[in-house]
Amino acid sequence: MSGEPLVVGLGARSYPIHIGPGLIDRAELVAGHVRDRRTFVVTNNVVAPLYADRVAAGLSAAGIRAERIVIPDGEAQKNWQTLDRVFERLLDLGADRRSVLIALGGGVVGDLAGFAAATYQRGIDYIQVPTTLLAQVDSSVGGKTAINHALGKNMVGAFHQPLAVIADTGTLATLPAREFAAGLAEIVKYGAACDLDFLAWLEGNMQRLHARDAAALSHAIRRSCEIKARVVMEDERESGVRAILNFGHTFAHAIESAAGYGAWLHGEAVGVGMVLAARLSARLGRIPEADAERLARLVREARLPTRPPPIALERWLEFMGRDKKNEGGRLTFILLDALGRAAIERGVAASQLEELLASA
Ligand code: NAD
Ligand code: GLY
Repeated sequence: MSGEPLVVGLGARSYPIHIGPGLIDRAELVAGHVRDRRTFVVTNNVVAPLYADRVAAGLSAAGIRAERIVIPDGEAQKNWQTLDRVFERLLDLGADRRSVLIALGGGVVGDLAGFAAATYQRGIDYIQVPTTLLAQVDSSVGGKTAINHALGKNMVGAFHQPLAVIADTGTLATLPAREFAAGLAEIVKYGAACDLDFLAWLEGNMQRLHARDAAALSHAIRRSCEIKARVVMEDERESGVRAILNFGHTFAHAIESAAGYGAWLHGEAVGVGMVLAARLSARLGRIPEADAERLARLVREARLPTRPPPIALERWLEFMGRDKKNEGGRLTFILLDALGRAAIERGVAASQLEELLASA
């Protein structure tokens, strides 16, 4: 059922993405990467009671100790204070440069533990064990790690590729429906930005995905990871094409920052962001209105919001002005040249945004 792992081919830093049910029990997927028979599992207080014992039991049977570092749940934890607590625990427990971290949880744990691994003692190895749909299709792959700053999402971070990604699709059974829908947003993103056939497949299979049909889920996760791996292999550090994976994210990050971290789920903000980016593309004459509305329909079918919260125009511009894609003070957006084909647009005029946001 799990099939062959996908590979993110980055020369000496290449790594496998294992996808399938029951993988967190398979310690051999981790054991080959651990040199000193000790690992440090960074997780949170929601995921730990669900899955940390299983991970530890598998590792213990393979002769590897798993020390636990449990942080509180939530996007608001992606900050300096929580990162510092992780460093403190690593130091207390005697982690050294040969130590391997295991990030067990969603994108928050993955981003924070990945950044801890990127910086602890100038960088140690880590393995991503994503347990949310969003983390399995997006945040665990590609090596972007970060914490948030009060002035902007993911503003402090590093590129640091994991040794492996182990996506146990069985863990999705316990994911709340709202979190599941948030993961669907990033899946829709791959279709909208990179693959029209996949978008059409999603239109035909959304109900199966909501029902968590194993075959449909497995296909959606695999295809998403294939697309992400391909783009990351082409442009690991986002000097060009990787930016298309941020389709919808300029608006989304502004929504998350303006609303206060955690008020909107990242995937919910991405749902709205994709609709706004598609409508902006239509206003600029790049795609027909009907295509923008086709995407809005799919976002709705994914049970995601399509309208932003009330945000004053100056606040939108303030947050979007800090987006990492901007260069030389010009606002950069990922727009659509067609459904399934995104492109980078540098220099969208504030007046065009004003009209769009006033009607959103
Ligand atoms: P999350 O990590 O907050 O997880 C969502 C919720 O589900 C949390 O309450 C978590 O404790 C819980 N949870 C996790 N696994 C569970 C399970 N199996 N069963 C029940 N509950 C479970 O959120 P997320 O959506 O996974 O990740 C969002 C974060 O990812 C954001 O900070 C976003 O910026 C980041 N992100 C990063 C990248 C990247 O490339 N690094 C890409 C996309 C998103
Ligand atoms: N989530 C976008 C990226 O990894 O580039």
